[in-house]
Amino acid sequence: EKVLLNDAILNASEAKVSVFDRGFLFGDGVYEVMVQLDNRFFFGKEHLDRLESSLKKVRLSFELSTLPQKIDRLLDATGLTTEDCLLYIQVTRGTAPRKHAFPKDTAPTLLMYAVPFVLPEVNNKPVSAVTRPDFRWHRCDIKMTSLLGNVMANDFAIQNGHYEAIFNRDGKMTEGTHSNLFFVNEGMVFTHPADEHILNGITREIVLQLCRDNNIPYREEAIAFERINAMDEAFLTGTTTQIAAIRQIDDHTFYHRVEPGPVTKKLQQLFFELKK
Ligand code: PDD
Repeated sequence: EKVLLNDAILNASEAKVSVFDRGFLFGDGVYEVMVQLDNRFFFGKEHLDRLESSLKKVRLSFELSTLPQKIDRLLDATGLTTEDCLLYIQVTRGTAPRKHAFPKDTAPTLLMYAVPFVLPEVNNKPVSAVTRPDFRWHRCDIKMTSLLGNVMANDFAIQNGHYEAIFNRDGKMTEGTHSNLFFVNEGMVFTHPADEHILNGITREIVLQLCRDNNIPYREEAIAFERINAMDEAFLTGTTTQIAAIRQIDDHTFYHRVEPGPVTKKLQQLFFELKK
């Protein structure tokens, strides 16, 4: 398996990063995940723009202009140029003696890999989710590599037989550990506002655009935990998840539990058409 580390294409087993890399020591880095479908990156520009914004938010300077060529080189080397694949991009603040202060004149570390992408099965089979207290920090808008809060909550979900954990912050549902959360109530679509308590997903934005283009009313408004049982439908969105209907959250089972509900299904169809 080939990866791109800084300027070099290497076998994954030979690609080495210093133990003093700040990504390793502090989780001091940001990342992106995007997919290539039918020979083009699905909303690739939006993903690269978000990477730029994450870099700015953590004051990490990294030259993005050469990234497209590097992506091409990586895809060539992996034989995935024309294949559906998932691309992972990570930039850390580089290697320096361990001090909290940002090092000066230290080159960032870039890692990219690509693997074949298969459409997730969860697209037509509603999934189950469990809520967890949102014990993460207050800058969830930054797509950073420090994901301990997310992986701990996801582990709880998996250990208990669920697909995803949904964070509950002060009684309101924010998002999943690697997905955004939507509800439907009497035809109205609800999702948490894009503030500092969620990652503003590219898929989330696509879904809102689909709502605008198709006269599906929506509100960017968080749903309180105790209102779950008043909701008609719920679904998760994300690059790897796409749009997955939720059949159950904690003890509440939704009416549409065998197949996605009508609004979720409509959005899935519209989303699927976008990819063609
Ligand atoms: N996760 N919220 C969180 C916390 C996420 O990590 C993700 C994506 C999303 C959805 O964002 P998007 O639609 O842009 O993929 C929301 C990626 C896929 C990951 O960590 O693997």
